[in-house]
Amino acid sequence: MSKKLWGGRFNMNTLPEVECFTSSIEVDQELAYDDILGSMAHAAMLGECDILTQSESRLLQQGLLNIAHKLSANEVDFQIEDEDIHMNIERLLYLELGEVAGKLHTARSRNDQVALDLHLYLRRQTIDIIDLLLQLQSTLIELAQSSREIILPGYTHLQRAQPVFLAQYWLAYSGMLQRDILRLKDGWGRINQSPLGAGALNGSTMGIDKNYVAAILKFDSVYSSSMDAVSDRDFVIEFLSAASLIMAHLSRLSEELILWSSQEFNFISMSDEFCTGSSMMPQKKNPDVAELTRGKTARVYGSLMSLLTLLKGLPLTYNRDLQEDKEPLFDTVKTVRSVLSVYAPLLRGIKINAERMSAATENGFLNATALAEYLVKKKVAFRQAHEIVGKMVAYCVTKNCSLESLTLDEMQAFSELIDHSVYDALNLKNIAVLHDTNNHKGRSSIAVEIEGYQKKMQNTANWVAEKRQLLQEVIAHFGIE
Ligand code: ARG
Repeated sequence: MSKKLWGGRFNMNTLPEVECFTSSIEVDQELAYDDILGSMAHAAMLGECDILTQSESRLLQQGLLNIAHKLSANEVDFQIEDEDIHMNIERLLYLELGEVAGKLHTARSRNDQVALDLHLYLRRQTIDIIDLLLQLQSTLIELAQSSREIILPGYTHLQRAQPVFLAQYWLAYSGMLQRDILRLKDGWGRINQSPLGAGALNGSTMGIDKNYVAAILKFDSVYSSSMDAVSDRDFVIEFLSAASLIMAHLSRLSEELILWSSQEFNFISMSDEFCTGSSMMPQKKNPDVAELTRGKTARVYGSLMSLLTLLKGLPLTYNRDLQEDKEPLFDTVKTVRSVLSVYAPLLRGIKINAERMSAATENGFLNATALAEYLVKKKVAFRQAHEIVGKMVAYCVTKNCSLESLTLDEMQAFSELIDHSVYDALNLKNIAVLHDTNNHKGRSSIAVEIEGYQKKMQNTANWVAEKRQLLQEVIAHFGIE
């Protein structure tokens, strides 16, 4: 009979189909380094607490380190029969060290081990994803800088509404990304918490020191309840929810770019590097990267729903259902990372057709609200001003002309308060400038916002550097590279 590491109470082999069914190694090998790191910290703690001798503890750590090196050199074979990453590493440790390997799992369960691995994994992924968001945000800010003079229609209901500067579009998306960054940073406190020591569900009788492990792995805190530590995956769900919002934002931006690059809009063209052709229609150049970003949003939402559903009916504490948390999480991390990596270069590669954008402001009465406000400044009640301008627009529609092309006489037929200054008030660029300078005592909102983001981006960069340094110290402490 083949011997499992947990095989003591079993008289029969697991069916091969069951081995396949229960095994997760195909998926959770993604956690190999995190698992090794967690085990090294655990082994160090066992030595520190005199549960193992110092030399046993050192031996275990050295064996684990060897496995890490072999892993980097691609010299490791994982086996389905060993079920998951934890058992695979433990078997490899037997191959390295012989019987002493059997001491590693003292006062530990795979339940707290897998929870620890997930915390370690999400810690490094959170830092990387915040960094990628920062790079995208800085691209948006560069674009905002260079498009401060370009005007185009702002839309509501996808109908032309008011003239805006193109910079405002980029700044709107930068605001969304800023909140995405803050959401992930906020989740850090709950990710950077150690579950190790919770054992299967209720710790152990061995006199371990949870705080010691947490300290050498540079966690901010430990879970106070063991039963909670092995049961919950709320920190994963928070991450997936933040990831879903990142994708929602990028999906909307993608939709913008897809519309803008259509012949109907023709506001931008995307670089060939980010488009593909049609196998049948020779003339086609399709915005696939933007479309796929929109499409991949669906799978990230799906992952969030999976995890929420996975958790909802589980009694305390650990249940094997929880093994299903990994695929959606890893898939989301992979998806968000790949989208973010391709998106900054995509944006940098777009060509802006400023003339088309500006031409599009000339139809659609984008200055109608400003005209109503012109009358309000002459003490007409807004509702009445709205009515007057509404009638003027209707008149223009019958004449097929714009508001600014009416003569003063024609305009005064609607309100005697209108005078020559109306033509300045109807000028689209003037309107966009007035909107821009309305909030900051004459200073441009766009300029103020850009300055604000430069400070925010510096803060984020500092945060990323500080956390990277923290993880680097942990890795250096254990000698893993
Ligand atoms: N592979 C398992 C998971 O991902 C590890 C924990 C298994 N624990 C157990 N008691 N079978 O959740």
